[in-house]
This record gives sequence, structure tokens and C-alpha cells, in this order.
Amino acid sequence: MLEILIATNNLGKVKEIKDILDSPEIKILTMKDFPHLPKIVEDGKTYQENAFKKASKISEYSGKICLADDSGLEIDYLKGKPGLYSSRWGSSDEERINKVLKLLENVLPNKRKAKFVCAAMLVFPDGKIYSVKEECKGSIEFKPKGEHGFGYDPIFLVPEYNKTFAELGYKIKNQISHRGKAMRKIVNIINELAGSE
Ligand code: IMP
Repeated sequence: MLEILIATNNLGKVKEIKDILDSPEIKILTMKDFPHLPKIVEDGKTYQENAFKKASKISEYSGKICLADDSGLEIDYLKGKPGLYSSRWGSSDEERINKVLKLLENVLPNKRKAKFVCAAMLVFPDGKIYSVKEECKGSIEFKPKGEHGFGYDPIFLVPEYNKTFAELGYKIKNQISHRGKAMRKIVNIINELAGSE
């Protein structure tokens, strides 16, 4: 049994990651189990750098195997923005969503392509590192739709379903999302490690 600490305070991410990592080989710990961990400044130049920073610092302080992800929404029309700054583009999800919609106000449907990117990093206290990166392609809706999920989910339209992540709900979202795909790769790595012990 591997104990893995999910190095994020984002409850939306915790819920998604827990669901995918649900396995008899894995015991999930969250930041709530470690109230005195330091705050990590996400000043890396790539998703991988930020994910590594979060996972390695938290692993150092907790002595646990840590899993962190760094993710973002890249919008073609905005030349890849908000990207690395996705969580800092405003002070609330609503503000961030409205900012995107305003910037894309008169932009035609075929020019609204976007993708979510997720880098996930598993860091062991002895310094071993496993890293994966995945993405999910879609486009930006004209107005928010759906009640589920978090962040930009209400405006991220998945073409295969013609629904937003927030309309699809987390079960279907997890099957196709950037984070879902990255976490399944991490689970495969964990299962291989557990099997070789
Ligand atoms: P960070 O990885 O903690 O730096 O935050 C990434 C930010 O990107 C989140 O706070 C959200 O605003 C956005 N984001 C990442 N993944 C998702 C997702 O699956 N749905 C909606 N927004 C997301």
C-alpha cells in the first residue's frame, strides 16, 4: 500500500484526483492531514516546473510521496493565455470566466479553439520523480453552461459531446479531461511500482 499526499488546496482537483486514484494499492492523504505545510509560490516558467515545485516542497516537509498537478487553459485567439496564469486571472472563477468571455465577445465559433493542459508530478521523499503531461481540446462557449466542476468548466465546450465540462459532470469529465488522462498515467506508474515491490 502506497500513501500518497495530494499536494493541492483546490478542492475541485482533490475530488477529481481522488476519484481516479481510488485503488486498493493506494491510500490518499490530503493537505487537511498536514495543516502546517508551507505555501508554495508558483513562479515556474512551465507547468512541469510548477508541479515539481509543489510536489517536491510538500514531500520534503511531509516526508510523504507527493502528487501535484499544474494546469491551465490555453485559448488560441488569446495566443495561449491565460495558460500558466489561469488561476490568477481574476479573484474569483466568475471574474475569470467573464474576462475570457469579454475578450472573445465577437469572435466566431471557429476561432474559439482552446485546450486544457495538465502536468502531473509524483515525487518520492528519496528524490525519485515521475512526470506526465496531457491535454484536452475544445472551444470556448459564448456563455457559461452547467453546474458541475470548477474553474473554467462552464465555458469549456467539448466538441464530441457538444457540452461544457460543467454540463458533463465529473464522471464523464474525468474520462476525457487533461487531468483525468494524466492521473490515469500516474495510476499506471503507481501500479507498476506496487507490483514490483
Ligand atoms: P493551478 O494548476 O493550481 O495553478 O491552477 C490551474 C487553474 O487552471 C485552476 O485554478 C483553474 O482556473 C484552471 N483549470 C485547470 N484545470 C481546470 C479544469 O479541469 N477545469 C476548469 N478550470 C481548470
